[in-house]
Amino acid sequence: MRKKVVAGNWKMNMTVCEANDLVDKLKSPCNVSDVEVVFCVPFTDIYTVSERIKGTNIGLGAQNFYYEDKGAFTGEISANMLCELRVKYVIIGHSERRVIFKEDDDLINKKHIKAHKVGITPILCCGEPLEIRENKTYFDFIEKQICSAFNGINKNEAMKTIIAYEPIWAIGTGKTATSDEAEEVCGFTRKLIGKLYDDETKDVIRILYGGSVKADNAKEIFMKVNIDGGLIGGASLKEEFGKIVNYNK
Ligand code: PGA
Repeated sequence: MRKKVVAGNWKMNMTVCEANDLVDKLKSPCNVSDVEVVFCVPFTDIYTVSERIKGTNIGLGAQNFYYEDKGAFTGEISANMLCELRVKYVIIGHSERRVIFKEDDDLINKKHIKAHKVGITPILCCGEPLEIRENKTYFDFIEKQICSAFNGINKNEAMKTIIAYEPIWAIGTGKTATSDEAEEVCGFTRKLIGKLYDDETKDVIRILYGGSVKADNAKEIFMKVNIDGGLIGGASLKEEFGKIVNYNK
């Protein structure tokens, strides 16, 4: 049985004061044991959120890092810097990083390898833009992203990676993929992992869906056999996130 994951991606939202207020509201509904809950917060909120969730089951995540250890990389944050702040998860390859900040498959692969080296769980995003969905080449598109991201990742590491399928046309648009559309790609991705590794890895790896998940559609999506939870943007900034975490109650 794969444990469900519900991860909030706060993106570039929440000053320290706002983050403290939000965590105070979400702490109790999110302190559950049947679902793995993660708050992926901006760098500037990591310290305060880490202090505020102490003693709960909530995991702390970052949204990015650079794969080098240290040096002349102005504006960047290393994986070791995150580890020292008790960060346990990191989002890699989010479409906003790929599209706006021009991160390519090679950089994403390097970050994926580095996250495992330091023992941070990668939440590795993949997902196609609208034109690829419309011309129906999305399986090829996802396969290329996944094969590249897992290059040089061994089986033990692969089993720990969390994949998030996030079709770009569904992010922040209010246009959710139907649960069947989400399941189709998550099932395809799971089979692909089986081909790249083996049946055990395929059965253990967690694959999430992301893109306009809300309290009223979470249950239908999370009940699909190949979907192990969600990566939540907009709705993670509200009390609604507690309802998504408790989708099965
Ligand atoms: P959304 O974002 O829930 O606001 O669509 C999801 C994401 O980008 O991770």
